[in-house]
This record gives sequence, structure tokens and C-alpha cells, in this order.
Amino acid sequence: MGCELTKLAASEFNHDLLDRPPPPADPRSPLTTKQQYCMLASWKGIFRQIEKTGILLFIKLFEENEELLHLFDKFSELRTIEDQAQSEELAEHATKVMHTLDEGIKGLGDVDSFFAYIRHVGATHHQVPGFKAENFWKIEQPFLQAAKTTLGDRYTPNIENIYKLTIRFILENLVKGYEDSAGKENGDTQT
Ligand code: HEM
Repeated sequence: MGCELTKLAASEFNHDLLDRPPPPADPRSPLTTKQQYCMLASWKGIFRQIEKTGILLFIKLFEENEELLHLFDKFSELRTIEDQAQSEELAEHATKVMHTLDEGIKGLGDVDSFFAYIRHVGATHHQVPGFKAENFWKIEQPFLQAAKTTLGDRYTPNIENIYKLTIRFILENLVKGYEDSAGKENGDTQT
């Protein structure tokens, strides 16, 4: 039996593709082929509300980690939830981050390209003064909460598990990209 989203996916995916046996999952991916399929089907629901979900994610991030606000030149003055919810700058940044996640999630089927893309995004955070690798993990719970709010009833325990595996895989690789590029810049080959 498929996941809870099978019916939804069947109506949205090309039927020819469904008739073919799925390719084996890459052992480096934390998702089975079926989980990856469910993730892509569910993610369509997030993608339709990508800006709203991104704003929710950043409001949660700053609610739980107020000290991170100062890293963002454009939002450091946005102290209240109301200010954050109405800020065009925050909406724009949140949407960019969500599109990065979208690119990563849609690329999960090709793990080499996924690593190259996500690790590069991780490395670019060296341009942010005061940023630390562990900051990436602070977005894990806000991401899951924002996905839950947007998906409502569609955020079943199975989907929650798949979102957890997916965001952890993304965050691990953002950190790896950040740390590996620091090693290169410092000429440090031990990391
Ligand atoms: C899912 C995890 C994350 C992704 C995919 C991501 C992605 C990005 C991207 C694509 C940019 C460039 C935006 C642009 O071109 O304007 C960026 C910038 C930035 N990110 Fe992240 N990021 C993530 C997590 C975080 C976290 C947790 C922090 C918390 C401190 C953070 C802090 C920043 C800052 C301060 C900038 C610079 C913003 C600016 O200069 O306007 N990022 N991020």
C-alpha cells in the first residue's frame, strides 16, 4: 500500500511514470524510493504556499532564537511578530530560503547533485559575519512546525517522519558544506 498521499500523487503525477517499477534508492539517501515519492507529493502542498510557509518558518526561528536576529542586517529591527509578519524584506529572504529547500528536495533523486548544491549553499554562509555552523540546526524545528501549519491534516505521522528525515539530511549537508569550505580556506586538510 502507498502512503496517505498516494491518491493525491496519483492525480498529480504522470500515470506512465506510476506504471514503471521505481529505481532503487541511493544508499546515501535517508529516504526509501517510496518515502521520496511521498515527500515530493506532499511538498507540492508547501510549494503552493511557499511564501507563507517561509514567513512562518522565520517567525518561529526568531521566536525561539532572538539572538539570531542581529545576523540579518535587514531584519535586526523587527522585534515583534507583527513587524516580522509584515516585512517585505523578511518575506523576500524567507522565499529565497524556501526556494533553496525546494531545489534540494526536488533534487533528492540525484544524490551527487543534491550534495553539490546543498553543500555549496552551506559554504556561502561564510559570507555572513558572526555565523556559526550550529546555527543551521536552529531551523529544524521551525521548519517542521511551519510545514505542519501549512499542511494541516495532511501532516500525518508518516509525513512528519519523512519531513524529519529530509530536513536533517539537508541540514547535515549544509553544515558539511560550511565546514569543508572552512577547512579549504584555512588550508586545513584534517577536517
Ligand atoms: C534551511 C537552511 C538554510 C538555507 C537553505 C539557507 C539559505 C540561504 C540563502 C540561499 C541565502 C542567500 C540569500 C540571498 O541571496 O539574499 C542565505 C543567506 C543568509 N542566511 Fe541562510 N539558509 C539557511 C539557514 C540559515 C540559518 C539557520 C541562519 C541563521 C542564522 C541563516 C542566516 C543567513 C544570513 C544572515 C544570510 C544573509 C542574509 C542577507 O545578507 O541578506 N541561514 N541563506
